[in-house]
Amino acid sequence: MMRTQWILGTILMFSLVACGSKEGDASAPLRIPTYHEDVAPILAEHCRSCHEKDGIAPFPLVDYEDARRTAEAIRIATASRSMPPFVLDNSGECNTYVEGRWLTDAQIDTIEAWARAGAPEGEKPVGAPPAPKALAELDRVDLTIDMKDTYTPDAAKLDDYRCFVLDPGLTEDMFVTGFHVRPGVTSMLHHLTLYAIDTKESEAEAEARDASEPGFGYSCIDDIHVTDARWLVGAGPGSGALRFPEGTGLRMRAGRKTILQIHYNNENGRHADRTQIDLMLEKSVPKEATVQRIAATNLLLPPKQASVDQSASMPVPMNVTLWGLWPHMHKLGKGMHVSALQDGEEKCLARVNNWDFHWQGFAHYTKPIDLSWGDMMRITCTYDTFGRDTTTTWGQGTNDEMCIAFFYLTEN
Ligand code: HEC
Repeated sequence: MMRTQWILGTILMFSLVACGSKEGDASAPLRIPTYHEDVAPILAEHCRSCHEKDGIAPFPLVDYEDARRTAEAIRIATASRSMPPFVLDNSGECNTYVEGRWLTDAQIDTIEAWARAGAPEGEKPVGAPPAPKALAELDRVDLTIDMKDTYTPDAAKLDDYRCFVLDPGLTEDMFVTGFHVRPGVTSMLHHLTLYAIDTKESEAEAEARDASEPGFGYSCIDDIHVTDARWLVGAGPGSGALRFPEGTGLRMRAGRKTILQIHYNNENGRHADRTQIDLMLEKSVPKEATVQRIAATNLLLPPKQASVDQSASMPVPMNVTLWGLWPHMHKLGKGMHVSALQDGEEKCLARVNNWDFHWQGFAHYTKPIDLSWGDMMRITCTYDTFGRDTTTTWGQGTNDEMCIAFFYLTEN
């Protein structure tokens, strides 16, 4: 996978952590961080949900030997913030996110100093080693979206994006208020997105796609190829149950099918997968949420540029609360910035510094944001077209580009 990584040129001298004292206390003795004391707790909390034996990640980070062997790769991946994978800036400079996967600068410095010192083990703790972070569960399960059949990813692809048309069997409209993804084969399921289909015509489009290809489902890396489909849930292994913000939910229509798009990663081998998604439903919610987008669609990206920006603005059409978002670009994307001009002041809505096409998804704000009718929203996407020979424009194909922020919002 292509990934722009920058490696910190930090010298060990600057990265030593102060022992048993507050940061900045110059009189404190400096010591080199060790695995057991400093690194294992970080890996347990931020890495092991995926880097378990038979997890989605290509290697485990469970014991000292695992960490020592991969210390240099860990150092580079954390310094570049490509791991833990989360494309939105969760530093607090431009909002924070519920379950945002993020290391503090101090944690990155600790790993840096440890790896550069030769990954020392240190004293084994007397008690039990730190346990991996427990994942959240749903209070109850009202409906399970089940593939009902198995799918084995295509051997010809490293990343197989497959869409399955599934009938949830609803006889009345319901609102999704929470979900929990239960992967069939965790080591393969990179992430998934469940879409609601709203119309009979769109359902027919999805079924025609499905019928046009042999095997269960249809291939859908670039797009799900359906006109009226709305985002419902999205997550991967390593995330527990997610509840939508209190009092809000997304509608699923009676009688309509859903599309389950799964990104399978074949790095750890191919197996027959049957994944399920547990849903928590309500018959009604105080505020129906919708997913609406701001996009720059007139993209014209000249080739051979290390950095090209494209922007678009639009006035907010009503008073809304933004609860979260999903930034979306394709493979040339590098970064994104979304803001709103409110009473003459610019408010940061989201910033993406390390775009990665393979790690996208929805994130909910820790603190929701209110916008008013007439506030000006602006989206800017940054691309790297260095490897292209021709101009790139907006389009559904993975070699075309997009610049979209989908917001989960309610009207006020
Ligand atoms: C949500 C799941 C998840 C979490 C959490 C996670 N990883 Fe990963 N990691 C992966 C996957 C999957 C890969 C394989 C490459 C890919 O798909 O991006 C990977 C690859 C890596 C690699 C190989 C180099 C690279 O960048 O691709 C390193 C090193 C790594 N992870 C370290 C870590 C560390 C250290 C943490 C915690 C600070 C962490 N990961 C947290 C899923 C995860």
